[in-house]
Amino acid sequence: MNASLLPLDRLGRPLHDLRLSVIDACNFRCGYCMPADRVPEDYGTDASQRLSFDEIDTLVRVFVRLGMRKLRLTGGEPLLRKRLPDLVHRLAGIPGLDDIALTTNGVLLAQQARALHDAGLRRITVSLDALDPRVFTDMSGRRGQVGTVLAGIDAAVAAGFSRLKINAVVQRGVNEDQVLPLVEHFRGTGHVVRFIEFMDVGDSNDWRRDRMVPSSSLRDMIGSRWPLHPLQADYRGEVAERYGFDDGGGEIGFVSSVSTPFCGDCHRARVSADGRLFTCLFAADGTDLRTALASGEDALAEHVAGLWAARDDRYSELRGLPEVRDRRRVEMYLIGG
Ligand code: GTP
Ligand code: 5AD
Ligand code: SF4
Ligand code: SF4
Repeated sequence: MNASLLPLDRLGRPLHDLRLSVIDACNFRCGYCMPADRVPEDYGTDASQRLSFDEIDTLVRVFVRLGMRKLRLTGGEPLLRKRLPDLVHRLAGIPGLDDIALTTNGVLLAQQARALHDAGLRRITVSLDALDPRVFTDMSGRRGQVGTVLAGIDAAVAAGFSRLKINAVVQRGVNEDQVLPLVEHFRGTGHVVRFIEFMDVGDSNDWRRDRMVPSSSLRDMIGSRWPLHPLQADYRGEVAERYGFDDGGGEIGFVSSVSTPFCGDCHRARVSADGRLFTCLFAADGTDLRTALASGEDALAEHVAGLWAARDDRYSELRGLPEVRDRRRVEMYLIGG
């Protein structure tokens, strides 16, 4: 491999993770991501605009050449992409790729968990913001039922997945009261609940800082019921801070990008379903990769290496400052978080 093709960005960060959206449609309308009053019912890029499986295969091989080792498939809702297990099967065979994970809202998991496991997927993260049926349904934009997601989690376990991650975005006045029930439900199961600070991604979710519940207050609340101790990060640049239950009931995590930005170690690239590279979750625009992709692996590698080398994003560290305050921000459902 040509060492000069292992790019560092302008802040010295390598390209280690790729988060690839396989579809921008979703069967939910979570208010913090895709509010129903802003995103039409039939929203979704034409299938013809999406990267094909052949294109994705080439793209992932090229990113591996550039140092990427961890791939996360996202959406929208990735299980809406037809024949996703076939894609996973192809990607799982790519030499040098150490880890493939998937983030899903869980609705279609019961139908697809076994095929995904057979295809070689080993890590699943399920978004689940509430256990109370009414709160859950409201937060999904009145599209989902909590029982379906819980059945999806059970089906994933039955299919061979273990230690799922469960992501809950916490919004003040909406689902703070769901935090302790979520912890109680998943404690001792081996699954890891992570509470995520409500972020100002995109321009549609009416974010206000006072609607974000800082992780420190959730940690105090949970810790006073079930004492906690901090755990070492699993890997450098891990997004979630890990805590273990003193009584051996497993662990939980907190993703605190508003109160405690982690841009310093951010080694994540994002590619939208239509093949645009975003170098930050809060970027205004992406850069088209399809033209270079059509010219072959070498051309794409050069192109991406150049884009990565020019990267200086650190939005969460600059949040609120004039240089970023009024900039447009890409919608979360286009790049999967
Ligand atoms: P693991 O590989 O299992 O550690 O996954 P992860 O925790 O990196 O991924 P996941 O998709 O579960 O992300 C958890 C939350 O963190 C989501 O809400 C993401 O949107 C958010 N997140 C992930 N990466 C970044 C990032 O680079 N910047 C910010 N601000 N948020 C991020
Ligand atoms: N703030 C924090 N997390 C969000 N997610 C989507 N929108 C937001 C937001 N505004 C989360 C989803 C999912 C992950 C990919 O990103 O709940 O778990
Ligand atoms: Fe869909 Fe996930 Fe966005 Fe909710 S957070 S609308 S499930 S893409
Ligand atoms: Fe990375 Fe941008 Fe998130 Fe900072 S705000 S951690 S640069 S994606």
